[in-house]
Amino acid sequence: MRSVIDITDLSKEELYGLIDTANDIIENPGKYAHACAGKKLATLFFEPSTRTRMSFEAAMYELGGSVISMTDGASSSASKGESVSDTAKIVSCYADIIAMRHPKEGAALVAAKAATVPVINAGDGGHCHPTQTLADLLTISREKGRLDDLTIGLCGDLKFGRTVHSLINAMSRYENVRLVLISPEELRLPDYVYNDVIVKNGMKCVQTSDLSWALPQLDVLYMTRVQRERFFNEEDYLRLKDSYILTPEKMGHAKPDMIVMHPLPRVNEISVKVDDDPRACYFKQALYGKYMREALILSLLSANPEK
Ligand code: CP
Repeated sequence: MRSVIDITDLSKEELYGLIDTANDIIENPGKYAHACAGKKLATLFFEPSTRTRMSFEAAMYELGGSVISMTDGASSSASKGESVSDTAKIVSCYADIIAMRHPKEGAALVAAKAATVPVINAGDGGHCHPTQTLADLLTISREKGRLDDLTIGLCGDLKFGRTVHSLINAMSRYENVRLVLISPEELRLPDYVYNDVIVKNGMKCVQTSDLSWALPQLDVLYMTRVQRERFFNEEDYLRLKDSYILTPEKMGHAKPDMIVMHPLPRVNEISVKVDDDPRACYFKQALYGKYMREALILSLLSANPEK
């Protein structure tokens, strides 16, 4: 029984294997239509979600399995004081695999230690979001044709943006990846990611607050939302929320084959006028997340497609 709490729980070879499986699901969905028949996924979401929860649920249905769901902590016995550990133990009695999102960093690890079925971290506070990274890796691999030899700009809220932390961890395994970290001073990457991942792995990296300076260098631009729900003070959020807005005019300074990614939801950081640009990949990225979640569920349940 194995859980995925952090992207580093998966080896580089396993990541390539999941990408291969996801590509095969895209090409041959019928082969996988009954792979999880008789299995149940529980989605436990103590924080709001559209993409992650619904793509996990769609993934399980497309594999022939079924889903039980808790969409809101307030409607569960967590509101009466039940611990994450007890919740995980109980839900293990009802489901074969759990996908859990929680506002507290480390909650998914606590759940995994108590559960008797695999737990997938669907986002724990500002810490990490490994299945978003799976979606990101499939997007980069399909749209750029490689995961090595890339200059990747990460722009916006790098402090609280858990998707950024997980993506940097994943990209540290690939060759010749250069990072351009674009953020206001106050929203820079936390030291535990900068020192323990970027410095420790000898990644090439520059930090700047200037998106216009960075844009012409990039193969991938990964925009992020300023994470209002993680701010202690509304005034700071209001001051920082529109630090970066990607517009068609700015896209004019980017490479013709740069791709624009965003984990979504978007608030104001990418103008809707950019959506028609063929380099805008964020809606495809959300779709790819479903296929990678299918691949991960198959792997954790050791389920096989039809030959
Ligand atoms: N990208 C992402 O995690 O989206 P949701 O919050 O809608 O799940």
